[in-house]
Amino acid sequence: MENNDLILELDNIHSGYGEIEVLKDISLWAHRGQIVSILGANGAGKSTLLKTIFGIVQPTSGQVMYEGQDIGRVSTFEKLKRGIAYVPEGRSNFPAMTVQENLEMGAYSRSDKKQIQEDINNLCERFPILKLKRYTAAGNLSGGQQQMVEIAMGLMLKPRLMLIDEPTLGMAPILVTEVLNIIKEINASGTTILIVEQNAKRALEISDYAYVMELGKMRMQGSAEELGRNQEVIEAYLGER
Ligand SMILES: Nc1ncnc2c1ncn2[C@@H]1O[C@H](COP(=O)(O)OP(=O)(O)OP(=O)(O)O)[C@@H](O)[C@H]1O
Ligand SMILES: [Mg+2]
Repeated sequence: MENNDLILELDNIHSGYGEIEVLKDISLWAHRGQIVSILGANGAGKSTLLKTIFGIVQPTSGQVMYEGQDIGRVSTFEKLKRGIAYVPEGRSNFPAMTVQENLEMGAYSRSDKKQIQEDINNLCERFPILKLKRYTAAGNLSGGQQQMVEIAMGLMLKPRLMLIDEPTLGMAPILVTEVLNIIKEINASGTTILIVEQNAKRALEISDYAYVMELGKMRMQGSAEELGRNQEVIEAYLGER
């Protein structure tokens, strides 16, 4: 039963785009129930890492293990069905569709139509902004609100593992707090979270464990508490001296 609580494991991953190798020998672990954050400067390879886990980018070598199984050759559709959700960075993928329709899209691998509507109702109760904008085209929401819709779409699959890329990018501090609180809540209800966050200080506040990437390599790792006290991390990412 050893490592029973390990939900995600990356072993010596190399990955990139065609000739360009971005990830160089990346290993990473997430235990069930954790919030794990990935920190690092622009271009460090954080988004590439999430894309590689989800299979949008194929590793050239190394292994991605999820719930004890190699998912390297598993389709993204199958990954969704197995409980992995991926929330990419940026705005709504379906700006011309209403929030309601976006949430339905989030459930496209499900066939339980009645339960889907019930889940949408529940999400609207949980996130007031969704209720308020339910029949508005997603493209007419603010950037922060659109990111909320993207997270809610991911939740339609009741994921056991959620990969979230920069959910607070460009948000006002008050909205950052709101989104990170939602992520904490999602985690508290049982979903393991792997989050890329440019706001290192805020990320460490909600994380159990964190990795710091630099130029495609894993530079540092440790408990959030440990990294928060690390002088190098403080100087490079926490904006304090
Ligand atoms: N589709 C692509 N084709 C070629 N190179 C790419 C592609 N996407 C990213 N890269 C390169 O891969 C490297 C890592 O990019 P990535 O987006 O993973 O970084 P990041 O850590 O997420 O950065 P940011 O904080 O700016 O989002 C960069 O040098 C980037 O130019
Ligand atoms: Mg990125």
